[in-house]
Amino acid sequence: MKPEKFFIRLLEPGDEAVLNLLAEQDNLFDQDPSVPPSGALSVDGARSFLSDPSVLFWLAELGTEIMGFLHCYIQRHRTAGPWAELLLMEMGTRVDWRRRGVGRALLAAMEDWMHGRGVREVWVPANTYATPFYEKCGFAKDEGEILVRAVG
Ligand SMILES: CC(C)(COP(=O)(O)OP(=O)(O)OC[C@H]1O[C@@H](n2cnc3c(N)ncnc32)[C@H](O)[C@@H]1OP(=O)(O)O)[C@@H](O)C(=O)NCCC(=O)NCCS
Repeated sequence: MKPEKFFIRLLEPGDEAVLNLLAEQDNLFDQDPSVPPSGALSVDGARSFLSDPSVLFWLAELGTEIMGFLHCYIQRHRTAGPWAELLLMEMGTRVDWRRRGVGRALLAAMEDWMHGRGVREVWVPANTYATPFYEKCGFAKDEGEILVRAVG
C-alpha cells in the first residue's frame, strides 16, 4: 500500500543529488514513460542550475521517493506593474501517482510563492494531454500560438 502523504519543497543549492536522481528517472514523469530518462547533470552543472536566481524548482517527495516536480522561470518585466511573471516550463507527476492531487499541490506551492512576492501571472505552453488538468486548476486558454525554431 502506497503512503498517501508527500511533502513539497523548493529546491536550493545543496539539493544537487535529488535533482539528479529525478533526471535519472524523469521518463516516469512524462506523458510517455517508455522514452529514455533525460540523464543527470554533473554535480557542478546541477549546482549552477539550482543557483540560478531565475529558476524555481519544486519537488513533491516522501523520504527518497519523488512523486512530482514543477519547474518555473521568473521572467522580469521591463515595464511598470508587477515586477515579473512566471513561465511554467515543465511539470510532471510520477505515473503511479497521477490523479491523487500531486499536480494541484505543486501548483498551490507555486501560487503561495507568487502571492508572497507580488507576482500575479503564470503562463504555460501546455501539451494537449495536460490542458484539461491546467483548466481544472484555473488556467485559461489565451490568444496566439506558440512557435518554435531549431537553430544549428
Ligand atoms: C498533467 C499532470 C502533471 C497532472 O498531475 P496530477 O498529479 O495527476 O494532477 P492532480 O491529481 O493534482 O489533478 C488535479 C485535477 O486535474 C484533474 N486532472 C488531472 N489530470 C487530468 C487529465 N489528464 N485530464 C483531465 N483532468 C485531469 C484531476 O482529476 C483533478 O481534478 P479534481 O481536483 O477536480 O478532482 C500529470 O498527468 C502528468 O505528469 N502528466 C505527464 C506530464 C505532463 O503532461 N506534464 C505537463 C506538461 S505541459
